[in-house]
Amino acid sequence: MGSFKYKGEDNMTDLLVWNAEYCIGEDTIDAEHQNLFHLANAVFKVKLSESKIDNIGPLIHKLYEYMKYHFDHEEEFMDAIGFTEADFHKTKHSEIIAEMNAMLKSSHQISVLADKLAAMMVKWVLKHILEEDIKIKPYLR
Ligand SMILES: [Fe+2]
Repeated sequence: MGSFKYKGEDNMTDLLVWNAEYCIGEDTIDAEHQNLFHLANAVFKVKLSESKIDNIGPLIHKLYEYMKYHFDHEEEFMDAIGFTEADFHKTKHSEIIAEMNAMLKSSHQISVLADKLAAMMVKWVLKHILEEDIKIKPYLR
């Protein structure tokens, strides 16, 4: 994936702030998690600046596609290292994608969608990393 820089994003507050404690210890997975933070922040910041609201559709699409890409990769990784809770973890990923699909379907106004999305990213990304992805960590030793 290339850079996720969007014009004007640097002078506003971040929705999600990365912390080294969020690392599970696998470089590619950790980098993908940081990309998700960056994408969520980009959606949030475009939402905050009314003039850039036209950019938000493609950005939300990119975030959605990247979530799926990352979950698929993470699931392959869990299987490869023999993570015993992989099945449970996969259902968590499916729930997030289902919630995301429902949100995309039900929100007809793009600004409303962006608001809801920003709120849910905390649960779908940050909370998920801290409660679920972190369980992978002991398997890396
Ligand atoms: Fe996960």
